[in-house]
Amino acid sequence: MSFRVVIVGGSVAGLALANMLEKFNIDYVVLEAYPDIAPQVGASIGLLPNGLRILDQLGCYDAYRAKAEDQVYQHAYLREPTGKAYGYQHDLMAMWEKMLGYPMIFIDRQMLIQVLYSNLNHRERVLTSKRVISVDILEASAQVTTKDGQVFSGDIVVGADGIHSTVRKEMWRHAPPGYFPHDEYSRVPASTLCIFGISHRPDAYPGASQHNTLSEGHSYFVMAAPGNRVYWFLFMELKETLYGENIPRYTKDDEAEIVKQHFDDYILDNMTFKDLYDKRIVTTLAPLQTYVFEKWHYKRLVTIGDSAHKVDPVTGQGGNGAIESGALLVNALLRKLDTSPNGLNEKQVEEVFAEIHTGRFNRAQDVVQQGYWLQNAFTQRSTMGKLIAQYFMPALGSYGVLYRGVEFCSPATSLSRLETPRRPRAVPFEDELPAKPVKSLNQLSKLASIAITMCLCALGADLLHLPKRLDLAIDALCSMKISTASLLPVITFVVKIASLLAMALVESNRVGNKLTSWVLIAIFAIVNNFLGPGALGPLAALFAHWSCGLIVGRHVPVEAARMILPIVIIGYILPATIAISRMDSTSIMIWKNAPIICFMLARSLLPLSNPSGSHIADDEKLKLDIERERTRNMFTKADLPYIRLVHYSAFLMSAATQLINVYHHGSLISLILAGKNARLALLGFSRYDDLAFTLSSLMLALGAAPLSLRLRGYITTSQSFASALLICLGLPIVGPTATIAGMAIYRESVLAGFGQ
Ligand SMILES: Cc1cc2nc3c(=O)[nH]c(=O)nc-3n(C[C@H](O)[C@H](O)[C@H](O)COP(=O)(O)OP(=O)(O)OC[C@H]3O[C@@H](n4cnc5c(N)ncnc54)[C@H](O)[C@@H]3O)c2cc1C
Ligand SMILES: *[C@@H]1O[C@H](CO)[C@@H](O)[C@H](O)[C@H]1NC(C)=O
Repeated sequence: MSFRVVIVGGSVAGLALANMLEKFNIDYVVLEAYPDIAPQVGASIGLLPNGLRILDQLGCYDAYRAKAEDQVYQHAYLREPTGKAYGYQHDLMAMWEKMLGYPMIFIDRQMLIQVLYSNLNHRERVLTSKRVISVDILEASAQVTTKDGQVFSGDIVVGADGIHSTVRKEMWRHAPPGYFPHDEYSRVPASTLCIFGISHRPDAYPGASQHNTLSEGHSYFVMAAPGNRVYWFLFMELKETLYGENIPRYTKDDEAEIVKQHFDDYILDNMTFKDLYDKRIVTTLAPLQTYVFEKWHYKRLVTIGDSAHKVDPVTGQGGNGAIESGALLVNALLRKLDTSPNGLNEKQVEEVFAEIHTGRFNRAQDVVQQGYWLQNAFTQRSTMGKLIAQYFMPALGSYGVLYRGVEFCSPATSLSRLETPRRPRAVPFEDELPAKPVKSLNQLSKLASIAITMCLCALGADLLHLPKRLDLAIDALCSMKISTASLLPVITFVVKIASLLAMALVESNRVGNKLTSWVLIAIFAIVNNFLGPGALGPLAALFAHWSCGLIVGRHVPVEAARMILPIVIIGYILPATIAISRMDSTSIMIWKNAPIICFMLARSLLPLSNPSGSHIADDEKLKLDIERERTRNMFTKADLPYIRLVHYSAFLMSAATQLINVYHHGSLISLILAGKNARLALLGFSRYDDLAFTLSSLMLALGAAPLSLRLRGYITTSQSFASALLICLGLPIVGPTATIAGMAIYRESVLAGFGQ
């Protein structure tokens, strides 16, 4: 193949791309302005699973990891301005690795560049002291001119030349007015100043740990580094946000001035910033620009990495994103070259570049947002930031950090034409799933679920009236045969609600639903007394569409899973039995509110999953043991037997009552036994309660299994249709609750079936 790529910039983005091109025998040259590849500027870089997986494909993951020596697995601490710890994330790196197959590993940026460089077969194609000063676009190629007067041409020119990108400026120069936003650089903001560096490890600093010391206006992030050193960052909020060319380039004198003001800051309770700074090896003062440029390509020129999207280093995503951009470029390029092996015309090149933009733009913007919030919390810039730093972050713990991280990393790109070495992971990356996730429908299904739920609630509460003819038809069906004194409808309903409640308790206790379930409980508590006793149905259906549904959030802490059946029996079935036998308003009232009590019980039996507040000291060891046990349970899926017991019990109980009903009344009536029963009426049923319940069950079953699993890519489209069909067939036979239970069993087996 004669395709040739000119890469401007020999840092993370440039050398990663060179490695990828080499794997597919595409010719390239890398032009680096500085005389050295990989100068030491004091920067560290942490690669996350999204970047590491691509390095693994390129064959340099092991080399990268080896650079971190024995500092791969770190514990993370949150600290107050006094240096006192107030929260920690135990085994954070190990958990990353269990989740996605790779930990988060920090090494010197210089080391990463060396790893990438040494992995190249054609190191002679990497040229130093070649500062590109201009780029020109020709008919069928593009060419760059370096400061020493040399000209290099290729089919495309890739600007991997950082935030001050020359390639970007040259694109802007060539493009007709209006193609790029006018004077876009003046929009690039910096609201944080950063001194970052590497020091020899001060004696007080414990190895294999990282520390976030947060205070108003500034914060520290320090982590253990290989070679008995530490990497550190001092982030400082700028008094006002600066833009574009108004962002100054700082000098060493500026740095000296600033550090003096911070010498007395405590980072650990026995180590100040001075202790750290005195041991410095190298430091840099830099403003942190964060910005995603609107367009990344023009004709045969494209920018990747920091030249296209500059993110805050607190996110740890700049370098990872640069590597992902390279992979997107190579994937698109290879596909295009298949169709046109003799070279690409300008239009084809632009199509390739457009794919990078489509694949990364939103992700890059996400990271900028993420950086904004992290920085806001770290340097406590607003009340919200303070709340996040002081309460939310310690409460989140390791799992919370991971959850967000997995959510972000799993949609990452990899090189679609290279094998990925097998590494056990609990959660697959999206491109390893059976089907492609459909994210665009996610919001739609959520909104639709609200609308439908409101209709069903209105129906149940007798606020909504069906068209006359339908109403009469239901009336005709329901008024038949069922003896008004029969206990069967009442028992049926209690069994239904009890089963649904048991399953809802499973859902609300999943680690991924920690927050959503509180919202659900609150909504339920509010509307419960307006609606009939069937309110749980529509609300559970709503929750099915809003709950987490991701593999990473599937686990139910074993302590909670174990308690679900006892709670339902004592907390719901018992009060229901009393209410039915006594039929007085007090016991009915108690029974009506029983689900809330059950929800609360199931939640409060769980001790807070993370030490929060200040009680970290003496019982730290005990808490750590409990947490480790819990983490182990999550990865071994120790909750599954208990959850299955709940689901199977719900299935059997509700299918049995349904079959008895069908035997007595036929299947149609059994699905809509409206409030014609004297007891049911006394218990507060409206005439449509059961119809609303059946419809919401249908919505719940469809939402929880076929729809949610398919939208996330966990099952294929045909599997999703097959399960939807099963629901429609099963509903009239085994009844609504057993159908839900059946789907819950299916869903659990799909979710738990991934990984390892
Ligand atoms: C303090 C700090 C900490 C960070 N921590 C992390 C982290 O933990 N995780 C993470 O993923 N990311 C991190 N990042 C971000 C990460 O370092 C960058 O996103 C990454 O280096 C971007 O790579 P790049 O190749 O796009 O650009 P750069 O690394 O900026 O490289 C650009 C290269 O182009 C060269 N160049 C520039 N102009 C020209 C020219 N005209 N001609 C020829 N060559 C030229 C430069 O000399 C340089 O080598 C951090 C950044 C900073 C500042
Ligand atoms: C300093 O504090 C750290 C963190 O609290 C602790 O691990 C370390 O042992 C202490 N070192 C000394 C010398 O007291």
